[in-house]
Amino acid sequence: ARTRRYTFNVTMATVTRLCVTKSIPTVNGRFPGPRIVVREGDRLVVQVHNNINNNVTFHWHGVRQLRSGWSDGPSFITQCPIRPGQSYAYDFRIVGQRGTLWWHAHFSWLRATLYGPLVILPPRGVPYPFPKPHAEVPLMLGEWFNADPEAVIKQALQTGGGPNVSDAYTFNGLPGPTYNCSGGGAGDTFKLRVKPGKTYLLRLVNAALNDELFFAVANHTLTVVQADASYVKPFTADTLVISPGQTMDVLLTAAAATAPSSTAAYAIAVAPYTNTVGTFDNTTAIAVLEYYGAPPQSAAALRNLPLPALPLYNDTGAVANFSAKFRSLASAQYPALVPRTVDRRFFFAVGLGADPCQSRVNGTCQGPNGTRFAATMNNVSFTMPKTSLLQAHYQRRYSGVLTANFPGVPPTPFNYTGTPPNNTFVTHGTRVVPLSFNTTVEVVLQDTSILGAESHPLHLHGYDFFVVGQGFGNYDAGNDTAKYNLVDPVQRNTISVPTAGWVAIRFVADNPGVWIMHCHLDVHLSWGLAMAWLVNDGPLPNQKLPPPPSDIPRC
Ligand code: C2O
Repeated sequence: ARTRRYTFNVTMATVTRLCVTKSIPTVNGRFPGPRIVVREGDRLVVQVHNNINNNVTFHWHGVRQLRSGWSDGPSFITQCPIRPGQSYAYDFRIVGQRGTLWWHAHFSWLRATLYGPLVILPPRGVPYPFPKPHAEVPLMLGEWFNADPEAVIKQALQTGGGPNVSDAYTFNGLPGPTYNCSGGGAGDTFKLRVKPGKTYLLRLVNAALNDELFFAVANHTLTVVQADASYVKPFTADTLVISPGQTMDVLLTAAAATAPSSTAAYAIAVAPYTNTVGTFDNTTAIAVLEYYGAPPQSAAALRNLPLPALPLYNDTGAVANFSAKFRSLASAQYPALVPRTVDRRFFFAVGLGADPCQSRVNGTCQGPNGTRFAATMNNVSFTMPKTSLLQAHYQRRYSGVLTANFPGVPPTPFNYTGTPPNNTFVTHGTRVVPLSFNTTVEVVLQDTSILGAESHPLHLHGYDFFVVGQGFGNYDAGNDTAKYNLVDPVQRNTISVPTAGWVAIRFVADNPGVWIMHCHLDVHLSWGLAMAWLVNDGPLPNQKLPPPPSDIPRC
């Protein structure tokens, strides 16, 4: 194992997309940001210098951060923000994880442009459990706003209504040939060049702020081998569904040299999947799969590439079929250590709510029916504290910062899929669930349809969890629990709570610290769709959270 060192200078840089030239926050002047490559077992040190006129933090999405919670990164959860002119070094080990993860800013909506891949190779000499690919290509799916994303969310929070949506989806920051303007077109297109007969490993990341995405390559089938840095039993698919926060490694085999397709170019497409009650970015973006030896393509030719067949934007059935295919490898070398018994069970109703106009609220009430959008779990909308929860926990100074009374069930039972529901009120607070070290936890996440059913990609920091069950309708403890997969459930860090459905997850609380669990649609996080687990130290020295590093930012 080695120590890998990176320096992140956060600076403004000028970029042009969709014919709009503007200054955006970047890491080292690059958009998307630099690729980090480590091996499992390595120590990673990233020295951050904040040279922009805004706070910033960085999160290493999916990295378990075993006893290194001070490096997890969510602002006001594990650290105070790095203020303009300040520096902070993230310093942690990669333990027991391999595959594709990513890093992104975790303050306000800065992750719109501050993100990049984090590739974890297996330890030296350890092969992949699938044939070695000819080449590996990180491919980050993103969302481009012509406006400043910070202004977009600020305005939404002022008015209480929904935010303006993005203008295009992107591949490694490029919107593709569909957006035609001088200086744009083909130069703004991501091209994946392939050799006939060779197999490529695409390391996909959905870095979009607010949209789950369909992904497909015309005339090519994909084989999924990994999700959220855990191996899965390989399966083929023509269309993938990737939620914000999720990563997926897929094999793409180029047609043999004798096939007519091996001299051409093909569209790689992304388009949104959503049931949102509001507006959304209903555009399709393309990148190009180009065979070496294909004749040069004009921008116009690329624009006219036939699109792969994609499901309709609201095809929840296609999404459910796809997510049902994920299974852990569960092999002798990569066993699925699924908790078979549970110490504590939770039932979280997850969804959007509407906040009546209250005096405590600044701004106007231009949300649904003169209310303000809010988002809740068990009717609690998360209030960002003014100091770091982990710091407060380390010093055992909770008063005025957090309360340990996040409810384990909704305040009153209701029919989650019925309309209108009889339980719509919203409370606000920084409420956490304390857990003893090594507690085995099950959480059933139930989508609610207070404003209309909509899926929510829930992300848990500090842990991978097993997805032991999912279904549509109201979760039924009696019948549904009996159908759980405790043999080879997929292990992930982000799972979409299905539209008008539920998902059940299990994890062992073996990592002391404070860990946020939140919707990875940034607008829902901004509206409070979050809670935190406070995991206490274990009895042994190596089960304790160490003291904070000396350069930890102060609030
Ligand atoms: Cu990828 Cu809390 O985020």
